[in-house]
Amino acid sequence: MEVEYILPRIASLVNPLRVAVLISGTGAGLNALLEHQQTSRTHSTKLILSNNNDAYGLIYGNKYDIRCKVIPLPNTSNKDLQRTMHEDLINQELINYNIELIVLNGYMRILTPSFVSKWKGRIINIHPSLLPKFPGAHAHRDVIKAKATESGCTIHLVDDGVDTGYILAQEKVSINSLDNIKSLQEKIKKVEHRLYPKVIDDISIGKYHIKS
Ligand code: GAR
Repeated sequence: MEVEYILPRIASLVNPLRVAVLISGTGAGLNALLEHQQTSRTHSTKLILSNNNDAYGLIYGNKYDIRCKVIPLPNTSNKDLQRTMHEDLINQELINYNIELIVLNGYMRILTPSFVSKWKGRIINIHPSLLPKFPGAHAHRDVIKAKATESGCTIHLVDDGVDTGYILAQEKVSINSLDNIKSLQEKIKKVEHRLYPKVIDDISIGKYHIKS
């Protein structure tokens, strides 16, 4: 049976939504959210998780005094078991910290349907293209290769598919003939860093009403 999106509760300044951010890399987007949350907000990041011990973004745990944990893939050759064990560890950490909204920002693993069904409506992903165009792990490369004249970012709820969930917000950037993967990535990150914290503002005040 298809699970409906169950959105987080409506939060308040005195009882902000408890957010976890999952990262794999530099965490520039994480930093933008943490800066946004420095002024009074109806959401607050309580947990930073990474699958990658070398993720630069882990420094923001110290900087903002937020619980920060690396959960590497467990050591087993059975790939299905490895994914399940890994997600069980993540799930336990999310429960321990009473997390109410999970933000995937540069988290470069695909979550299993089993994990998503437990959190559906309470996981958002930041994707660097105008979905449904250019899903997947190499959006900028694919956009440049296709000679597209515009791209952008999408903030969406996560479902069982890859970059297919309900779209909460999008913003375009234009591409010129001098753009390359790196310049496009930088342009889009600027927009993402402004847009997605506002989407979380809106989620936390109950602006979205969504069914599957
Ligand atoms: C962001 O641009 C985000 O859209 C992208 O990773 C970057 C994270 O950068 N996400 C994906 O590509 C997901 N498929 P950061 O680690 O510097 O915040």
